[in-house]
Amino acid sequence: MKRLGILTSGGDCPGVNAVVRGAVLAGVRTGQYDFVGYLDGWSGVLSNNSVPLTLESVRGLSRLGGTILGTSRTNPITSGGAPAVIASMERDHVDGLIAVGGEGSLAAARILGESGIKVIGVPKTIDNDLSATDYTFGFDTAVQTATEAIDRLRTTGESHHRCMIAEVMGRNAGWIALHAGMAAGAHAILIPERRVSLEQAAAWVLSARNRGRAPLVVVAEAYVPAGQDAPYFPRGLDTFGRPRLGGIGYLLEEQLQELTGIECRATVLGHIQRGGAPTAFDRVLATRLGMAAVRAASKGEWGVMVSSRGTDITTVALAAAIGELHTVPEDRYLEAEMLFG
Ligand code: F6P
Repeated sequence: MKRLGILTSGGDCPGVNAVVRGAVLAGVRTGQYDFVGYLDGWSGVLSNNSVPLTLESVRGLSRLGGTILGTSRTNPITSGGAPAVIASMERDHVDGLIAVGGEGSLAAARILGESGIKVIGVPKTIDNDLSATDYTFGFDTAVQTATEAIDRLRTTGESHHRCMIAEVMGRNAGWIALHAGMAAGAHAILIPERRVSLEQAAAWVLSARNRGRAPLVVVAEAYVPAGQDAPYFPRGLDTFGRPRLGGIGYLLEEQLQELTGIECRATVLGHIQRGGAPTAFDRVLATRLGMAAVRAASKGEWGVMVSSRGTDITTVALAAAIGELHTVPEDRYLEAEMLFG
């Protein structure tokens, strides 16, 4: 029987465990594969740190948040590259890898694939910013969590006649802000793709106040107001040298209060959006993606990413799956903007 190794890398995301379960059930029940799970992403592959994954060990996993395998942001390309990965796979008698990851992890998988390693990518990010797939699992859960939080901010804002500002995640794209903001009936949504001015945001806040509402603003962490140069990042750099985002909400609290004269309060939702149990939608999507990865392996379709297209799960070449990010198009923002103020 052949063996597949599964790893989960990059930021965690509700639904990762459901991918693992879907893959193991599909491979074991069809009698084609047994599985090992590498611990803590690529670092587990490079150090042969793995556990067997069996029908028993994946039981009940789809409803669990986080990843039972652990994750890290180790980059295999800069930590030994393809030769180190091949040596580890040989030691573990692993024929192919299923790499569940976001933009950075999929880019690494692509390079390894080009070096002859049998690898299949599964797209994962709450940000929903990967192209070549309609939705990434974890996004629906993050939107649900953010919407519930914003609904709560609304009631306290109404009681105190304040403007409430909710900052949500989205490193490159404003999808979480757009969807949670629309769902919660925000009076303004601020995203990096559409750099509206602070004066415009203040006008929406005042218009809501003038209609007797407690204004609600939803801002994506990467939003840059018109006229400013770079995202607000007072928190230094991460291990990839990228700015650690988070905190623009507090800046807006000061600035919108000054521009509108309305008392403002900001809440940064942060990693709350990544934690907890996945929604039913994300469980189903993630399970199907895990099963599809095993189907692709059994057909010898390596170097691909499994992808959701409409109601289908399909595959695309890893080379085509990375590169341009899936950001909020103008018409989607303009549609939401009609609801502001
Ligand atoms: O890419 C997913 C994401 O959750 C972003 O929305 C956020 O900016 C980033 O990861 C946070 O990363 P970390 O968990 O390393 O702080």
